[in-house]
Amino acid sequence: AKNIKITEDTTLPAPVKIRLDEQDPAKITLQSADSKGTRVRVVGRVHRERKQKDLIFLTLRDGYGLMQCVLSGSLAKTYDAITLTRETAMELLGEMKELPAGAHAPLNRELQVDFFRIIGKAVGGDDAITNRVAEKGDAQTLLDNRHLLLRGEKASAVLLVRDAIESAFHQTYREHRCRKVSPPALVQTQVEGGATLFKFDYYGEQAYLTQSSQLYLETCLPSLGDVYCIEKSFRAEKSLTRRHLSEYTHIEAELDFITFDDLLTHLEAVMCRVIDLVLADPTTARLITDLNPGFAAPARPFLRMRYADAIAWLVEHEIVNDEGAPHSFGDDIAEAAERRMTDIIGRPIFLTHFPTEIKAFYMQRAADDPRVTESVDCLMPGVGEIVGGSMRMWDYAELMDAYKREGIAPEPYYWYTDQRRYGSTPHGGYGLGLERFLAWLCGLHTVREACLYPRYMGRCKP
Ligand code: 4AD
Repeated sequence: AKNIKITEDTTLPAPVKIRLDEQDPAKITLQSADSKGTRVRVVGRVHRERKQKDLIFLTLRDGYGLMQCVLSGSLAKTYDAITLTRETAMELLGEMKELPAGAHAPLNRELQVDFFRIIGKAVGGDDAITNRVAEKGDAQTLLDNRHLLLRGEKASAVLLVRDAIESAFHQTYREHRCRKVSPPALVQTQVEGGATLFKFDYYGEQAYLTQSSQLYLETCLPSLGDVYCIEKSFRAEKSLTRRHLSEYTHIEAELDFITFDDLLTHLEAVMCRVIDLVLADPTTARLITDLNPGFAAPARPFLRMRYADAIAWLVEHEIVNDEGAPHSFGDDIAEAAERRMTDIIGRPIFLTHFPTEIKAFYMQRAADDPRVTESVDCLMPGVGEIVGGSMRMWDYAELMDAYKREGIAPEPYYWYTDQRRYGSTPHGGYGLGLERFLAWLCGLHTVREACLYPRYMGRCKP
């Protein structure tokens, strides 16, 4: 086999370069009983291969799709063909053909190869990719090999849906006339409490990785109108759960001159529009159905439930708090309880009006009940909280009292406080965790599967 050499037949028509998806603009004719097929050139990697007596079937993957390619005759007898390994990068030329009757292959066609060239061989034997990324590998081995696992169908499908979701958020915010800004990640103020701050030395000064861009978004309202950002947020979470990351993508928006009810209506409209947009794209819709066969767009309106009523619901359903005692007003509803409630109710919930004591310093109190805030968590079946939002305290004196109550030194917040001195307004906003949104949409067991390279306590590689 070492001696069999193949050469390209230059008398054949010049090939057209194609990508392996339905959206490729190149017009292709398939070889059939009464027509010749287009001669094409494709590049990609071997996703699967199957060697038969005189034929080699390989499924090529190029990041856009898959295609079956058939090597026959002397092409199947060369050293490169006989030793072909999965993940080898190659170039193939040939004629596009209809599938034989009864056969199945991606895109319903196959390539009858007339020439190929190896671009980059993939190692085989003990080091073959299939041995590195064994399906039964434990979670840590799989994460150590995430760079290879990304080549698999499930991991790449999630990332493609993620791309579609991000793009749908951008479009939806345009439709709502929200402007995109890009706040800093290196900061000197906290937003969501000192317990989860990543601290570092910034040229001799104490600084943090941002927990949320909210305070910066608030400063944009007077000049830019409603704003949003899609940036990384960082939380030094000291627990390992299915839904906590140390670095996550935070989709945040801030709206001016609104009521709490406006905020909830906007949030519901944005989430539903994003879902409608991704489901309207056939490629993304198919990926979502493959990942999460039971997924259906949620019915509107979302259930609205006050925190006090949720406490009563938990007591009634005998779901206890982390100490094993019945819930009472003032408890932080823990992850497990929140999840059980959401799964039993089985539809999205806007949980509102949390007590002041268990929420961040900046939240506006409710006019009808000063014990609680105009705050909202959006809870989804299977995941629990995916959004946190609120109206913001907009009175100067009230904000100064809030700093004091929380033991926060007001000086570093002068730029935030100033918003209450130069034309303050009722305003509010929210933050949505993209990985949690994806976990819900794609039916993932953990948010770690929704990241390119997840970061959580104990993992900062690859
Ligand atoms: O509820 P949180 O802490 O709210 C804020 O940060 C507000 N300042 C946002 C705002 O109003 N602009 O976080 C908002 C969302 C959560 O609902 C969750 O989806 C996500 O951010 N999140 C996390 N996702 C993954 N890992 C973590 N450790 C997360 N912490 C929060």
